Amino acid sequence: MSGIGILGFGAYLPSRVMTNDEWSEYVDTSDEWITSRTGIKTRRIAAADETTTDMAEQAALAALADAGLTAADVDEIIVATDTPEVYAPDTASFLQHRLGTRTVPGYDLGGSGCAGFVMALDIARSRVQCNGSTVLVVGVEVLSKLMDWGDRDTCVLFGDGAGAAVVADRPTTAKIIACVAGTDGSRADILQREVGGTRKPFSKEVAKTEDFLRIDFNGREVFKEAVRRMSASAREVLERSGVALEEVDLVIPHQANLRIIRSVAKTLGIDPAKVFVNVDKYGNTGSASIPIALDDARTCGSLHSGDLVLMTAFGAGFHWASGLVQF
Ligand code: UT7
Repeated sequence: MSGIGILGFGAYLPSRVMTNDEWSEYVDTSDEWITSRTGIKTRRIAAADETTTDMAEQAALAALADAGLTAADVDEIIVATDTPEVYAPDTASFLQHRLGTRTVPGYDLGGSGCAGFVMALDIARSRVQCNGSTVLVVGVEVLSKLMDWGDRDTCVLFGDGAGAAVVADRPTTAKIIACVAGTDGSRADILQREVGGTRKPFSKEVAKTEDFLRIDFNGREVFKEAVRRMSASAREVLERSGVALEEVDLVIPHQANLRIIRSVAKTLGIDPAKVFVNVDKYGNTGSASIPIALDDARTCGSLHSGDLVLMTAFGAGFHWASGLVQF
């Protein structure tokens, strides 16, 4: 039987904790609004000199140590991020150099939003299947540096962080039983960052007239779609695996909003006690949210050896992905 799965994982969070009350110094908001609408109480904010590569490196080193490996063992690097180190080349290039791996292939899965890590995990699994490689998968976001701190519709939702996993084929891996993923680009415009691409390139004119950090965002529509797609893809991955919902020990959903998480649990009909939540501590950390939650679940004692874990994520694109892992 194939043992392709997660050999080790880890996370990194910047030390600065920002409370909801602090946000009221920047925008017209309140702890009451943020808590009741999202469940978020605090989030982490990267230091002024801390970049995407810095955070990715820390998470990668933690995952490699957990796997009992070093950078020398890495055969491929995939970085899921919407907040890269520079516009081009990709963050994987910087991470390859920083970790000091051999000159292995590295690439970013950019723009896949909060579904990026689970999508990358699925790609890593196929790569391992193809050539028996050891793949380092990282989800990392430094959203605080690329968002509009004056836009209350979005800024209060996000946090910075990184998480990583080593995917390999070894007897000791947490086996990835199945992954499913999907994309529906017909709704791309209700959660997008438009400026900076070829449709609306950076220019002096744009800088004068546009708020180029703006994220176009229809929260209510994204909310509904997130619940629908995460629930459906969670069911799909269970069906594909021939596993009943009752057999799942722990659900790790993307941490965007406590109400979304509760709605997914309700739609699926799963005991909320089996659904891991840490959005209160870290906010929405985009593609880093699932590996951070995985690491946090282990630290909190919610993830045990032998657990059957269902991960489900949704983000801009729209993209969604779910994975079933036997720990
Ligand atoms: O990771 C995947 C991507 N993101 C998501 O999954 C997020 C999905 N959406 C959501 O989480 C929710 O839709 C939000 C948390 C963004 C908003 O919650 P909501 O219950 O859908 O809010 P609402 O539409 O009922 O309320 C919006 C109102 C507006 O005021 P009016 O027009 O009703 O007077 C906003 O101006 O709340 C106002 N508002 C705020 N008020 C205080 C928006 N942001 C804030 C704020 N503080 N930070």
